Amino acid sequence: MEKLKFNKSGLALSRRIAAEASVLLKNDGVLPLKKNSKIALFGRNQCDTYKGGGGAADLWAVKCQPYCDGLEKLGNVYKPLLKKYRDTCAANRDPSLGKFHHAWNYHKYSLPEVRLCDSEVELAASKCDTAVIFIGRFSIEGRDIANVQGEYKITDQEEIMLSQVTKYFKKTVLVLNIPTALDLNFLDKYNIGAIIHNFYPGHLAGFAMADVLYGRVPPCGRLPFSWAKCADDYPTNEGFSTDKIVYSEGLYMGYRYFDTFEKEVAFPFGFGLSYTNFKTETFSCNIDKTIVTIKVGVTNIGDFKGREVIQCYLSSPDGKLQKPYQALCGFEKTDWLKPQQSQELSVSFDLLDFTSFDQETASYVLEKGEYIVRIGKNSKSTTPVCAVCVGEDFVSKKVLNRFALSESITELSNTATDKENTDNLPKLTADFTEIEILDFTNPPLIKAKQKTGDYTFQDVLDGKCSPEELAACLSDEQLAQILTGDGFEKQRTLGLSLEPLVEGEGTHTHQVTELGIPSSVMQDGPNGVRATTFANPPLPPDYELSGRDCVYYPSVIAQASTWDRKLIEQMGREISVDLDKIGYNGLCAPGVNLHRNIRCGRNFEYFSEDPLLAAELAVSLINGVQKNADGSPSNRYAVLKHLACNNSEYMRVTGDSVLSERTARELYLRVFEYVLSRTNPLSIMAAYNKINGVYSAANSDLLDGVCRYEWGYTGWIMTDWDVRVSEAECLSAGCDTCMPGHYKTFEELQNGGLTRDVAEHRAANLIAHLAKTKHYFNGELKNTTA
Ligand code: BGC
Repeated sequence: MEKLKFNKSGLALSRRIAAEASVLLKNDGVLPLKKNSKIALFGRNQCDTYKGGGGAADLWAVKCQPYCDGLEKLGNVYKPLLKKYRDTCAANRDPSLGKFHHAWNYHKYSLPEVRLCDSEVELAASKCDTAVIFIGRFSIEGRDIANVQGEYKITDQEEIMLSQVTKYFKKTVLVLNIPTALDLNFLDKYNIGAIIHNFYPGHLAGFAMADVLYGRVPPCGRLPFSWAKCADDYPTNEGFSTDKIVYSEGLYMGYRYFDTFEKEVAFPFGFGLSYTNFKTETFSCNIDKTIVTIKVGVTNIGDFKGREVIQCYLSSPDGKLQKPYQALCGFEKTDWLKPQQSQELSVSFDLLDFTSFDQETASYVLEKGEYIVRIGKNSKSTTPVCAVCVGEDFVSKKVLNRFALSESITELSNTATDKENTDNLPKLTADFTEIEILDFTNPPLIKAKQKTGDYTFQDVLDGKCSPEELAACLSDEQLAQILTGDGFEKQRTLGLSLEPLVEGEGTHTHQVTELGIPSSVMQDGPNGVRATTFANPPLPPDYELSGRDCVYYPSVIAQASTWDRKLIEQMGREISVDLDKIGYNGLCAPGVNLHRNIRCGRNFEYFSEDPLLAAELAVSLINGVQKNADGSPSNRYAVLKHLACNNSEYMRVTGDSVLSERTARELYLRVFEYVLSRTNPLSIMAAYNKINGVYSAANSDLLDGVCRYEWGYTGWIMTDWDVRVSEAECLSAGCDTCMPGHYKTFEELQNGGLTRDVAEHRAANLIAHLAKTKHYFNGELKNTTA
């Protein structure tokens, strides 16, 4: 069997992210463990650890380290129990575990627990000082998590384990290896000293957990979502996982709901403890036109090193438009601070990022009034630090209403009118005098260029013609060929011409040999490069174990819980090492769909319920992939996905997200808008689902209207894989390539379903993309920049 050679710095980073992403939810002082603390490990999940979730985000079945292996090497683990768990798990192995989880229905959400007798637990308690209990849950693309035992709730067998362990052990730690949250109502019954949320930790779960438990890397993650007391407490729970989901909560999603309506939660958005405590002081609050800057000092006042996250929230005044209590408007994380060490942080944001959308006038507006800026440790503990006065309503952007509802919906509304007293707060005044009001009410028509000569791709690279001029040279057959992408499977079945470019699948665009137009090869995903094929039937065990040596990074939600832009950018650069190793040009990530409901099966692949946090970290990943360490373009690309409102997995390819234009624009589209205003992902993927009855991939208001015209996006847009709508409709609406496509484009061009003007325009976008990025021609990798 071939020896795997993993990128060492990537492995170290994966371990670091898994440790730093850990969120300490509770600690009665049991953690950190003393250097020689002897620990007994409970729960099958210590051996059958979920490295990540399933679906597009999964990687080849490289052997990832379970918790018990790493803890055994770096900690002081009680062996007899470990042996029992290992033996029982090996004898009852779930065939899908550790393998590539793309076998959609081939896995379980939780595994039967190993039964222990009381005497075994009692004996372990007499030999060890602390019990570490592991509970794990799986999650996968294509299926939402059900609010039942074994999924969102714990099983009877897990309850038995908790009751046995807490009966004999005084000191207990619970480790959660779960995608998002779990119903934690069992906590009242058992005496659990500390809880660590580890999400899906990727490659080196055991080493990372040893780092956290023994305090080498104290947990410094913060929840990127609100953890309600039970699934029914989320305002989005009713009607979730149906084929037509009405977003009746409107803007009151996540903490915007819990904070506005003063509902209790188990753990608020942004929550996370440390092994130490921090003192925070606000030094100054300033404004330059609309840019607000708050300077904060943080001091570690405890006994262990730690990192603090300063979170800044904005409460906008109610006017004609009702607003949620507050919205995250900025954040910064300290470096590692030793006891007594201090650091000054500066948090900045632009008020214009927090406009409201007025459907009546189809415009974005900052309504007049006082905008209160708050600093806090999480959304439930924020303190006002200043108020920004906006004298008159300021309209920043005029657009067209583009997402009409075919039926009226009633959105949740907040009738409370309490006004906060701001008398003692420093006052800043926003100044809009030099700010241009943007008008997007006259969309341009798509008109192709006249043919001006006979060009090849080399002419584009040499600056002798534009991508549009080359597109004008393509025949209908050639246009059809490059407007449809492929995976090797389809290419083989349909006998289409393309040299195998790389091993494994590598979905790609088609080359046009005669004109020298190359092909681009891309692969998922958000936690490392999925260098493999969709194997059906699953590959024989040996083959699977030989795997590919791409590093498995912690899942995206774990990346988000670091709240650390630099770390995620570094991860993007390390992922590129594997992209280059396998020979892929692009990475089909990041996904920035919001965690609208806690039970969405792909939440682990998405960052947060909050558009700003999700966008900021997606920007870091994109920059990491698309830029070299010195900031120069890497010529690789990231694919920002899934545009838009793709927030449930049930019936995901045909489901309809029904929501008001305001909710769409202020939350689910805003996350994409934030990303595009901060960086330039060279590609975007349109989602499967419908928005108010219109498929996203065939929604010209969304793609040509909002994305290209309002947001000014000039890159390459592809569909998600095998969308349920025709190629002509997708291409006419704004997609440049249908992935992997139904091969109907030629017919559609011939029968007028797709016009040449549009087809050439789309082809030009792909040609421009190919000229900026690494690509293949006749099987050879090129790294040419136009
Ligand atoms: C997923 C995408 C993914 C694509 C290719 C689709 O099913 O929704 O996120 O990039 O497959 O694997």
